[in-house]
Formats: sequence, C-alpha cells, structure tokens
Amino acid sequence: MSKAPRKILVTSALPYANGSIHLGHMLEYIQTDIWVRFQKMRGETCHYVCADDAHGTAIMLKAEQMGITSEELIAQVSAEHQADFADFRVGFDNYHSTHSEENRELSALIYRRCKKAGHIATRTITQAFDPEKELFLADRFIKGTCPKCKTDDQYGDNCEACGATYSASELINPRSAISGAIPVNKESTHFFFKLPDFTEMLKQWTRSGTLQDEIANKLSEWLDSGLQEWDISRDAPYFGFEIPEEPGKYFYVWLDAPIGYMASFKKLCDNTDGLEFDDYWAKGSDTELYHFIGKDIINFHALFWPAMLSCSDFRTPTAVHAHGFLTVNGKKMSKSRGTFIKARTYLDHLDPEYLRYYFAAKLNNRVEDLDLNLEDFAQRVNSDLVGKVVNIASRSAGFITKKFNGVLSGNCTEPQLVADFVAASNLIAEYYEGREFGKAVKEIMVLADRANQYIADMEPWVLAKQEGQEQQVQDVCSVGINLFRILMIYLKPILPETTRQAETFLNDSLDWTSLDSILTNHEIKKFKPLMTRIEATSIESMVTASMEEQSQEQAATHDSNSPLKDEPIEAQIDYADFAKLDLRIALISKAEAVKGADKLLRLELDLGGEVRQVFAGIKSAYQPEQLQGKHTVMVANLAPRKMKFGVSEGMVLAAGPGGDELWILEPHEGAKPGMRVR
Ligand code: 2FM
Ligand code: ZN
Repeated sequence: MSKAPRKILVTSALPYANGSIHLGHMLEYIQTDIWVRFQKMRGETCHYVCADDAHGTAIMLKAEQMGITSEELIAQVSAEHQADFADFRVGFDNYHSTHSEENRELSALIYRRCKKAGHIATRTITQAFDPEKELFLADRFIKGTCPKCKTDDQYGDNCEACGATYSASELINPRSAISGAIPVNKESTHFFFKLPDFTEMLKQWTRSGTLQDEIANKLSEWLDSGLQEWDISRDAPYFGFEIPEEPGKYFYVWLDAPIGYMASFKKLCDNTDGLEFDDYWAKGSDTELYHFIGKDIINFHALFWPAMLSCSDFRTPTAVHAHGFLTVNGKKMSKSRGTFIKARTYLDHLDPEYLRYYFAAKLNNRVEDLDLNLEDFAQRVNSDLVGKVVNIASRSAGFITKKFNGVLSGNCTEPQLVADFVAASNLIAEYYEGREFGKAVKEIMVLADRANQYIADMEPWVLAKQEGQEQQVQDVCSVGINLFRILMIYLKPILPETTRQAETFLNDSLDWTSLDSILTNHEIKKFKPLMTRIEATSIESMVTASMEEQSQEQAATHDSNSPLKDEPIEAQIDYADFAKLDLRIALISKAEAVKGADKLLRLELDLGGEVRQVFAGIKSAYQPEQLQGKHTVMVANLAPRKMKFGVSEGMVLAAGPGGDELWILEPHEGAKPGMRVR
C-alpha cells in the first residue's frame, strides 16, 4: 500500500510593500519554490503561501511622499511583486497581504489569547517625538552627528562612517529625518509581549531539530544571556492594525507580519474545498510547517514567533530554514556598480530559468552567503544546461523525427544505463529534501556527462551514413531521448518552463513516478531548442540598466545632505591593504577629449618630473580646459591598463554619484606634484 501523502505548509518571508523585489530576495523565493515543486512532484500535499508585508512607518511615509494613500501604495507594490514572482515562475498557492481582514482577525485573536494568559505587560516609556510631524521617531528616523567619530548626518542607530552603534539619544545635534525638527522626549504607554516567560519553552524548541546547528547555537547564547520583553505597540499615526480595546495604539509591524503566513493560508482555505485551516495550525497538528527566511530575521522567527504561537494555543513550526545573503561578483550588491539588480531588470534581459539553475547549483542547507559571479553564471549555465542537458536531446531528436517519423524504438537497448540513471533518484531526492540542491545538481550533471559520452561513443551521425544501420540509429537516439527524459524529471523543480517545453517535445508528462517507465514505441514531437546560450552582452546590458535606474532614482530622490544613503561604506580593509595604495598629488598638465570615447578624457598628470597618461571617465562632468592646470590626487601605483584608446597609467580620484555630478579631488595649496598623500 502506498504511503499517505505528507501534508506540508511552506512559507517564504513576506517582502515589504515599499520597494521592488531584487535578486537578493529572489534567492529565497527560488530556493523555497524549488523545494515546494519537488514536494509536489513527489505526490506530497504541499501548500506554498506568501504575502506582502504591508504595515509600518516606512510604508506610511513613502505613500505620503508619493502623494497617495498607504492602501494605494500597497496595492501598486503588490501587483508589481506578484508579476515579478510569476515571471520567475515562483508558484505560490496564495499571495496575500498583511493588510487583510484575515490578518486583522488572527492578529487580534493571538493578542487576546496572549493577554488573557497574562503574557502582555503595559508600561510607560519615553521616546523621541517629532513635534512638527506629531510622530514618535524610531532611531532610524533620527539623524545627527556621530558621538564617536563626529561625522555629520548619521542615522540614530549606527554610524555608517565609523560603524559605531549607539542610541539616538547619544547623537550630537539630533534632528528628525522626516521634518528636520529637533526631537523632544515624550512619554507614552506601550504594550510588551513577555518573551522571558517562554525561555524554557524556547530552549526546548530551538534544540528539537527545528533549526540549523549554527542558528541553534546562536540562539542558545541569547537564551542563556536572558530574553527581554518585546515592545509590540506603536502610537498613532501608524499604518497597521489598531490594538483591540486600545484606541490610538497599533500593533508593531513585526507582530502581525508572521501572522500574515496564517492569514494567507486562511484565505487559501476559504478558496479551496476540503482544505482546513486547523489541520495546519491547531496545536498538536501532525502536518508540517516550514518557514524559509534570511539569516537577518532569525530572532523574529525562532524566538518571538514560536513563543507567540505557543502562547495563543497554535502549533509551532516544524522547522525554520535560514539562508545567507546574496553577493554579486564577490561583493555586497552595489547600486553604483550596477550589481543591485531588480527582479524586473533581470527579466528584461535574461531568462529566469538561468538564475534558478545557477542558484540551485550553488545552494546548500547552511546559512552561507551565495555569490552570483556574473561570468561564472554565464559559463555554468551555458556549459551545463545548453552544452550538456539540452544537447542530449538535440543530438538525438533530429534522427528520430527525420528518419523514424518521430517514433522511438520498440525496446530499450541499454537497460543497464537507463537503470543506473533511475537508480540515482533516491540520492537526488534526498538532496532535494535536505535542501542540498547543489549536490543534487552535481549528481544530475554527472549523469548528463554519461549520457553525452554514450552518444559520443555510439556516433549515431556516423551510423546514419552507413547502410543497414537504421535500427541502431533509432536505438541509440531512443536511449538518448530516454536519458534526457530522466534528467528533465530530476531538473523539473529547478526548471519549470524548460521542463514544460520538454514535456511537449517528449509528448509525455514528467513526474517522479514517471521514472518507473521507459518510452518505447512512443511518438515524440519535433524538437525545438529548449534553451539558448547566455550572451555576455545581455549581462552587460542588465548591469548598465541597473546603473541607469540607480542614477534615475538618485536624481528623483537626491538628498545632497545624505550621500551615504545610496552607497553605504564598504567592508573594512586592513591597514596593510590601505598602505599598499600610493596616492600622489598630480598636476593636470594636459586634458583632452578622446576621439570615439563618450565618457573618457585623456589626462597628462605631472608627478613632479614624471608624466603619466591616464584615461579618466569624467567627460560628463568636465570640459578638458576646466581641468588643465588643476592639482588633483591620483593612484600612482595602479598597474598600467591597456584600454581601447591607449595605456592608462594610474587613476584620478573623484567623488559623486556619477554623470555630471562628479568632482575631482583637489588638494589645498602647498601640496606639490609628486607629494605622497598620507
Ligand atoms: O525582513 C523583511 O523583509 C520582512 N518584511 C520579513 C517579514 S517575514 C514574516 F515574518 F512576515
Ligand atoms: Zn561615527
């Protein structure tokens, strides 16, 4: 008798409704979607829900800035998010909003139950208040001078220049980041969830196989050092849900955000016959509940959330699966480098299946950051998917269509080879189940190599030219098609659209149970290329488009007081690294336009005797004659670089977002050419 299907509910973190989805987000949705598709194709009952995280001050202020209501903003953003997800083939069973009736009711229910059980405390706190906007200010809405390094214009929770963390009350000369007013202290009553009451419960829960080891260890430290009560209320004006029986008090966005998982599922139940909310959320339920999240929101999911659920008589999650951050080309995504890539910008230039594959190939079940190296991305997709997998079908299909009316051989001449391919299914399934997608992909590619090797050894194109070898040609190509079919079954969770096209071509539907059969005497359809190579130019265009979006956004929201806002300070370097830089004062003895170059000026830089030629991308900001005779700072020990127009022997330093907003550095009088900058 076959086993009853598992009943699984899966979520990804709810994206904020005030910004676009970018590739960093997509890492999580793709990871979750692959896992869900795997469960579904194995015949499990699996539901995947998500929603926009629609509440909070940031959303309220953004809507105000745009001159629309918060409701209008979240409706716009929801449509944009859903289109992005759909185009990346993320197959949610329901996509909802935390600003929904279901969520309002569930949030009130959970709060009331917690209150009734004595786990809500009330006390008066003093907080910064913007007297002009009449709004309490969270630390990040206060700006001032850093108390440590004295850099101006720093946010109230940390300094982007020196990295110090502090509270807003320590800022020198604090100002409301919203109105510029000087904040005053004001008292107000707040509601607290008594998290320390759940210390024992959480100690048990975090150690019961619910979390990855590295996370369970981190949480142990927090649990041992003592939990704090959690402030779950915010004062009006606030875009969110009013707390029951407490006019003017609202639930903090992070209180109702995870409840949004339940609300989205509730909505799915309301729309689906036979799907029962209690089956998945009632205490003691034997269904499975998994949350996929990023490593930055672990405390919300592994402390507050299970405590709130347990307090209000709901089940706790089976497991929380955290992943690391996405870097691009080895670095934090950067708007000015064009590596902060929005989902839509990616989709405008590249096929989503490529990224799904690349992420899968690099994902494991640990909390490690994943690097999207754009060169490696193209290389890997081209070589694995186009060069190996699709190639198997394209090498075999033509003969079957042309010579055998599209019909495969009546029996399989390589039963052992096919059996080996099928035998890999258990290991591949284990890897998928354990979120070791990289290992699954590796196994699949080993098989793809074997399939290609088989075809290369059998040389059907040579056989086809020999008389009396028709049957062999058909047999070899039929084996090739069957091997391709098995590989596509394995890749189905990762490549939904390519598999859909492969199903059309194979005239068959592919599921895990399809592994039990071999296609013989079966008619396939004409082969159409399932995937084309990634061209370097598409990647370049995507990066350029991302840079352009960045300058447009900056132009639209330019805040000259806050240059750090769009370009955070990068990771720290050692003194030894810094000391390698040889910065020198240089006299720009000559500056001229370069024929055929839109962005470059050719400079001659006099270092007090030695003259260097440097091509600098500052044409949009300067006429050559403005520069001649000026002193500036150059990197004197940069290895010479051969460029299209000549060799560049160094680099000048300039500041600014780019375009016509770029200013070269000029030293004070007295600094002479050749002097070292230290
Ligand atoms: O960090 C974030 O982007 C949050 N909007 C995630 C919320 S997940 C859940 F708890 F709702
Ligand atoms: Zn500082």
